[in-house]
Amino acid sequence: MAKRIDISGLSAFYGNHKAIEDISMTVEPRSVTAFIGPSGCGKSTFLRTLNRMHEVTPGGRVEGKVLLDDENLYDSNVDPVTVRRTVGMVFQRPNPFPTMSIFDNVAAGLRLNGSYRKSELNDVVEKSLRGANLWNEVKDRLNKPGSGLSGGQQQRLCIARAIAVEPQVLLMDEPCSALDPISTLAIEDLIGELKERFTIVIVTHNMQQAARVSDRTAFFNLAAVGKPGRLIEIDETERIFSNPSVQATEDYISGRFG
Ligand SMILES: Nc1ncnc2c1ncn2[C@@H]1O[C@H](COP(=O)(O)OP(=O)(O)O)[C@@H](O)[C@H]1O
Ligand SMILES: [Mg+2]
Repeated sequence: MAKRIDISGLSAFYGNHKAIEDISMTVEPRSVTAFIGPSGCGKSTFLRTLNRMHEVTPGGRVEGKVLLDDENLYDSNVDPVTVRRTVGMVFQRPNPFPTMSIFDNVAAGLRLNGSYRKSELNDVVEKSLRGANLWNEVKDRLNKPGSGLSGGQQQRLCIARAIAVEPQVLLMDEPCSALDPISTLAIEDLIGELKERFTIVIVTHNMQQAARVSDRTAFFNLAAVGKPGRLIEIDETERIFSNPSVQATEDYISGRFG
């Protein structure tokens, strides 16, 4: 089941450096929320606080709450490994496991979680590759290395790998920035399909992409260099791009800075 995320008073640190400050927002299930804003304003950091990846960085620390439905991901009894299974992530550079076959890349997360019969694994791998719109391109070479695919195919393989473990939320950090325009469109189409099943949060530096794929858009900014990034506003994407409530958002989307 896709879940709702409710973030309140969230700040994140790298050692003594506060990268983002006092962020509160909600993310609706079965929707796409885009994060936009100038480089360095903390979009990636914030995204990584949503599946407890931030704390893996040395000195990485978080204050505040992230509720997934009603459970705070940062409660002391919550296992971060379970969180990362529930809240999957796709990165900027496609990162298939280089020595693994296409099949094994998709099956990797399942194998970590427990033992499956071969037929079960086959089913999940096919379903996940179909879900990532990649099945038809790879079904005859499942035992070939994932690293032999094109960049766009590799990114869809990473999406297949992420959805194979049935997460409820998918985080994507500039998933198209290393891809050509055709592959980018394929991923954007895919995002439109995946939001029927998952709650999706995507960081993008591409304003047209935010406008095309997202239901809601959040604009982040720095008050000044060296200051922590803050959420400036979040609203329906249509409204952010036509009639934002804050001047800084207007300046950013019209290309006056950033
Ligand atoms: N691994 C890290 N160690 C220390 N500081 C970091 C690290 N990653 C990011 N930062 C700092 O956190 C701030 C936000 O960075 P980031 O989240 O990458 O922004 P964005 O994704 O919006 O470009 C920046 O000041 C950046 O230098
Ligand atoms: Mg980033």
